[in-house]
Amino acid sequence: MSSLPTIRSERAERGSFAGQTGLPRDTIRDDMKRSTPNSTTRRQLLRFLAASPYVASLGGVAAFLERTPLAQTTERSPDVITSPAEALDVHDLEEAARGKVMPGHWAYMASGVDDDGTLRANCDGYKHIQLRPRRLRDATKVDMRVELFGAAHESPIFLCPTASNKAFFPDGELAVARAAKARGTLYFLSTGTSTAVEEVNKALGRPVWQQLYAPSSWDACEKILRRVEAAGCTVIALTVDNTTGRNSETFLRARPKDVSQCTTCHASAAGPSAQERPMYDGINMTGVRMLNPAMDWAFVDRLRKFWKGKFMIKGIDTREDARLCVEHGVDAILVSNHGGRATETLRATIEALPEVVAEVGDRIPVFVDGGVRRGTDVFKAVALGAKAVGIGRPYLWGLGAFGQAGVDRVLEILEGELKLAMGNCGTQKVSDINRTYVATPVRCEFF
Ligand SMILES: Cc1cc2nc3c(=O)[nH]c(=O)nc-3n(C[C@H](O)[C@H](O)[C@H](O)COP(=O)(O)O)c2cc1C
Repeated sequence: MSSLPTIRSERAERGSFAGQTGLPRDTIRDDMKRSTPNSTTRRQLLRFLAASPYVASLGGVAAFLERTPLAQTTERSPDVITSPAEALDVHDLEEAARGKVMPGHWAYMASGVDDDGTLRANCDGYKHIQLRPRRLRDATKVDMRVELFGAAHESPIFLCPTASNKAFFPDGELAVARAAKARGTLYFLSTGTSTAVEEVNKALGRPVWQQLYAPSSWDACEKILRRVEAAGCTVIALTVDNTTGRNSETFLRARPKDVSQCTTCHASAAGPSAQERPMYDGINMTGVRMLNPAMDWAFVDRLRKFWKGKFMIKGIDTREDARLCVEHGVDAILVSNHGGRATETLRATIEALPEVVAEVGDRIPVFVDGGVRRGTDVFKAVALGAKAVGIGRPYLWGLGAFGQAGVDRVLEILEGELKLAMGNCGTQKVSDINRTYVATPVRCEFF
């Protein structure tokens, strides 16, 4: 409890403390309702808030509570779940993971940049969109399967690339890959993976879609791509939204003040260097940056010429850039803002999605990620034109809490929620879901 308000994950932002939250929950089963009138816990919480410099900086406890939904009626149990099956939503796994993952690693995962505004916006964006259900259609035949670049997947939900998964669970990416295999889920692997692509592909039983952080040297870039190709990968996703570094302020505030324990594993307290990341094995990274701030459309052309497989760009947020993607021969777009981890005060990705989709039409598929925490969020993104919808932090919560079984449970929960939404909205196939199934706020409307 004592460290909570210093780590401002979106859960903390919406008022969850040691398992308490005030989110109103329309439950699907009575036994999902957990009421916890616990005045002692509440008193302790209020005492804690009163002593917190973070709360003071917001104007005190009353102002803090006003920003959060603590005053609402349905509260979560203060008990943290002890098995994946107990999780009723993905945030139950967040709480479980928070207690298990090292504080510095947790802070790295949870944080956004500056005031975490983009991080919050991504989640909030979905709350401004409502569903428009159609009734009296047979809901016994809901089929969530999708085909993406010729490969079949059990649902439109995919696992985003996230670096350094061993920071959250010893098996890291292997645990994620095993869960993805078991559930038939599309898995993007980060260039910053803590497990080599060859091993991950083996665990997955097919090649990952490989995310690419282009190093500042073309030679290094080519070597990574040749390795990825030799490992059987046919799809790459070039990340373009985080080339200059970032101001991960909440990470810096929340990580332990004594960073000396970081250097027992890492060369520096700043986190893993290229030498600690297997995708750079055998590549001379002296003087080479892992992120290339000089990337431009000429670089895209060079990459397009070199890479014979499918080429996606991750991090496109405007119609202008979407048009350039098509003009430069890119095969797919992933609308993303890095989960609010790169640039502050961006729009929610769900609000950027419609203009990108309107621009490219049916010419290339558009994917989206950022802030997806419910099956209804997935439904809304598909309704607004996404062919598939990515999750980052939620599966890391599952991973940190219970390894493979936790990732599996996150997928099971989100797929279950999506299936309910599809059935209740009268959509039997993912391709049935379209714009008529959502009511959007004005800012999503002009395309
Ligand atoms: C801990 C962490 C590490 C990430 N590492 C990468 C990465 O290596 N490459 C990348 O393109 N995106 C990375 N991302 C961004 C995700 O791919 C994705 O865009 C984002 O997590 C989606 O938002 P969400 O966390 O709200 O679901 C990372 C995100 C997190 C939380």
